[in-house]
Amino acid sequence: MSIRKVRTSDLQAIVQLDEKLFGEESFSSYSIRQFINLFPESFFVAEQNELLVGYAVVGVKAFSNGAWLLSMGVSTPHQKCGIGTTLLAACDDYCKSSHMESCRLSTSPSNSSAISLYRRFGFEAESELRNYNEPGDHKLIMLKAYISM
Ligand SMILES: CC(C)(COP(=O)(O)OP(=O)(O)OC[C@H]1O[C@@H](n2cnc3c(N)ncnc32)[C@H](O)[C@@H]1OP(=O)(O)O)[C@@H](O)C(=O)NCCC(=O)NCCS
Repeated sequence: MSIRKVRTSDLQAIVQLDEKLFGEESFSSYSIRQFINLFPESFFVAEQNELLVGYAVVGVKAFSNGAWLLSMGVSTPHQKCGIGTTLLAACDDYCKSSHMESCRLSTSPSNSSAISLYRRFGFEAESELRNYNEPGDHKLIMLKAYISM
């Protein structure tokens, strides 16, 4: 398995993976293309046997040193093999080397495997926001502070 920065030619593979993992909550092809345009240095993909098996993308809030982990996912058959950990380590290294003050993310409060991974990297629950995208959609916001704010 290897990790590299995204290429525009990865777009369709990422869209297909995102749809499989997130269904109705997946990003549109257009959104993912915009993430590639905006964050080419902090959009990582995992490849195994020339197959794209995971991705993670960090966005940086304009005019700030505040990052957001916008999305990450690993194809179901390749989960629990350390790929998510390696992708998150690449995001974490990016935040450190870019002197980010913090990184936030939103996740479903019931997504225990993701929350456990984030905790291992030092993310802590910051708040729980109700009706985040739509009524009934509640999200846990997690924060990792890189320097004291
Ligand atoms: C969350 C997600 C990205 C994690 O990716 P992953 O590749 O499975 O992550 P890892 O393999 O690094 O770690 C997951 C678990 O497998 C364990 N693991 C890692 N390598 C292992 C190995 N070789 N053998 C056995 N277990 C292993 C880890 O210790 C970890 O255990 P934990 O859940 O008890 O903490 C993945 O589950 C996913 O894509 N989920 C669906 C999409 C999603 O929810 N994304 C996050 C949205 S906020």
